[in-house]
Amino acid sequence: MTPTKKVLVRTYGCQMNVYDSERMTDVLEPQGFEPTERVEEADLVILNTCHIREKASEKVYSELGRLRALREERAAEGRGLMIGVAGCVAQAEGREIMRRAPAVDLVVGPQSYHRLPEMVAAAAEGRRSVETDFAIEEKFAALSEPAGRQARARAPSAFLTVQEGCDKFCSFCVVPYTRGAEVSRPVAQVVTEARRLVVEGVREVTLIGQNVNAYHGEAPDGGAAWSLGRLIRRLAEIEGLARIRYTTSHPADMDEELIAAHRDLPILMPYLHLPVQSGSDRVLAAMNRRHTADDYRRLIDRIREARPDIALSGDFIVGFPGETDADFAATLGLVDAVGYAAAYTFKYSPRPGTPAAGREGQVPEPVKTERLHALQALIDRQTHAFNASRVGMVMDILVEKPGRRPGQMVGRSPWLQPVHVDAPASLAGAIAHVHVHGIAAYSLFATLADRSGGRDAVSIEAAEVTG
Ligand code: SAH
Ligand code: SF4
Ligand code: F3S
Repeated sequence: MTPTKKVLVRTYGCQMNVYDSERMTDVLEPQGFEPTERVEEADLVILNTCHIREKASEKVYSELGRLRALREERAAEGRGLMIGVAGCVAQAEGREIMRRAPAVDLVVGPQSYHRLPEMVAAAAEGRRSVETDFAIEEKFAALSEPAGRQARARAPSAFLTVQEGCDKFCSFCVVPYTRGAEVSRPVAQVVTEARRLVVEGVREVTLIGQNVNAYHGEAPDGGAAWSLGRLIRRLAEIEGLARIRYTTSHPADMDEELIAAHRDLPILMPYLHLPVQSGSDRVLAAMNRRHTADDYRRLIDRIREARPDIALSGDFIVGFPGETDADFAATLGLVDAVGYAAAYTFKYSPRPGTPAAGREGQVPEPVKTERLHALQALIDRQTHAFNASRVGMVMDILVEKPGRRPGQMVGRSPWLQPVHVDAPASLAGAIAHVHVHGIAAYSLFATLADRSGGRDAVSIEAAEVTG
C-alpha cells in the first residue's frame, strides 16, 4: 500500500478558484493524496492564484518565497516538499514563474487540472512541467465525475461551475486571457452534479461562471442550447434542493427567461450580483461594457418588477483611465439611484496585456484613493440601511455552521446576510424560520420562530413581508 501523502491547496481570487481547488483535491485522491489545511503536514502545496489586480498576483511570489525557505529547511531533514502553481497567474505567466521561482515543480493553468496526476508523478521523479493549454471541454468531462469517488459529507451550501471563460473583453480585465473563451457545460452534466451534491447533504447551490448568465449549455435532448433561466427551472425540480443562486452576471446577458425565473421560482434567492463598474456613459464605453447607465437602470427596474424583494450587489472600479470628477459623480449618482445591499469597490489596476493598461489619462493614486473612500462610504450607508430594514422581519435562513458562542449557529438570509441565531447544532443544513431582532456591521441577529427546524422547501414568507 502506498503511504498517505498530503496536499494543501491554497485558494486566492474568485469562487471559480474555490470550486477548482476542490476538483484538484478530487483528482489527486486516487494518487494517495489526502487534503490538509496545515502546511507543516503537506507533501505538496498548490497555490491556486488570481491575476485580476496587481496586488492579487504579487501575493504569489511572496508566498513562493516562503515555501522555498520551507523546502530548504525540509531538505536538511531529508524530507521533500513539492510546489505547484495553478490558477490565473499560472495561465498568464507560466514559463515566467518557472524562471523566477526555481523551487516550483509544476505550473498548471485553469483548463488543465485533469493533467495534475501525471504532472505530480513527474515532479516526484524530479521533472518540472508547465501545462497552459486551453482544453476546457476535456477538463469538464474529466473532472465532473471523478472515477470511483466516494460520496462525502458536504457543507449545506456549495458552488457548481456551469460556465467558464468570457468573451466580453472589458478593456481593464484579464479574465478573457486567463480563462479563455466562454464555454458552457451541458445541462445533463450540471443536473447530475447538482443531484450528487444534494445526496451529499447540500441544500443550496450557487451556479458559478465568469459570465454565468451568458450560459448556453447543450440541451439534454441535443436540441437548441438552454439559457441560464431554463437551466435554473430544471434544477428547481430537484428534490431536496432548497435554494439556488448564481454569480457573476453581466448586464447585457440578463435575458427575459432569467428575469422570469426570478418572478416564478421562490427557490431562486432574491439576491443578484450585477456589476456595473461605472455610472458614466463615457467611461462605460471606454471600458467596452456594451451598455449605458440608463440601460442598467431600466434593467434593474424590470428585475425589481419581476421580484420586488430582490436585493442587488455590484462591483465598481474607480480611477479608470480618463475618469473625471464629473464621471465619478455619475457613479455616485447611479449608486444613489439603484440602492445596493452590498457592493465591492476597486481602484483601477493596469493589467499587462489589456487594452486600457497603456491608455493616456491614468488617474493619480491619491485621486483613486479619495474616490474609493467616497464610494465606499456611500455603499456602507446603503448596506447598513438595508440590514436595518430586516429588523423585525420573519424569514427563512439556511443554517450553515456553529457560531462563535456555544449554542449559537450561523446561517444565511435569502439576501446572503450572515444570521446569528441561538439554535442546536442539529439544525445545521436545515431551513429555519427566524425572527430578526438586531444587526451588527455586516450581519443579523435572530431567534428561532415557531415553525423552525422544518426541512421543507424555502417558504416565501420573507418575500411577502417586504413585497
Ligand atoms: N466576471 C465578473 C468579474 C470579474 S473580476 C464580472 O464580469 O463581473 C471581479 C471584479 O474585479 C470586476 O467586476 C471588476 O470590478 C474588478 N476588476 C477587474 N479587473 C480590474 C482591474 N484591472 N482593476 C480593478 N478592478 C478590476
Ligand atoms: Fe472581465 Fe468583463 Fe468578462 Fe467580467 S465581463 S470577466 S469584467 S471581461
Ligand atoms: Fe482572479 Fe482568475 Fe477569478 S483572475 S478573479 S481567479 S477568474
